[in-house]
Amino acid sequence: MTRDDLRALVRTIPDHPKPGILFRDVTTLLLHAEGFAAAIDALAATVPERPDLIAGMEARGFVVATALALRLEAGLLLIRKDGKLPGATIAEDYALEYGTDRLTMHVDACAPGATVLLADDLIATGGTALAAARLVRRAGAVVIGARFLIDLPDLGGAARLQADGIETQSLLAFE
Ligand code: PRP
Ligand code: ADE
Repeated sequence: MTRDDLRALVRTIPDHPKPGILFRDVTTLLLHAEGFAAAIDALAATVPERPDLIAGMEARGFVVATALALRLEAGLLLIRKDGKLPGATIAEDYALEYGTDRLTMHVDACAPGATVLLADDLIATGGTALAAARLVRRAGAVVIGARFLIDLPDLGGAARLQADGIETQSLLAFE
């Protein structure tokens, strides 16, 4: 499948969850067996060496992170919204294109020095990914990069990650 084929599988819904937001809906790409596999293969091919862990941010990030972890034979680190993890956690607050939220991680989830690749369906402002990077770094692990199916470059998130020293790549850009 070409990049244009994959792009065509992402549905756009205006005014969700708030007026003025063009919501880029990845669920339609995930429904397409060939498209989902091709997207994960293409993203995996951009990762130069196997990280110890792939970190996925709840909820849509879990889908991409799980698929990449299996494909790259890495472990899976679940970074969750507030109040979900059963063990001792650390937390980071962040702003989104359409609100604010809090991410948490088990304090003992990654060994100091472990290499971690962040993965999510989409990067917009980069608030989510930067909060995840802060959690991973507080645990003493190393963020080696970030991968997304979709980038919204106008919102500047990928540039913010790069400025923070996080090597960042996405499959599909939506202006
Ligand atoms: C979406 C998306 C990313 C984040 C990107 O998640 O899956 O995690 O927003 O936005 P940002 O770059 O501005 O931080 P959302 O918080 O809507 O949660 P969901 O995955 O539970 O739908
Ligand atoms: N997360 C943040 N902004 C988004 C958007 N425009 N579409 C889908 N998910 C998002």
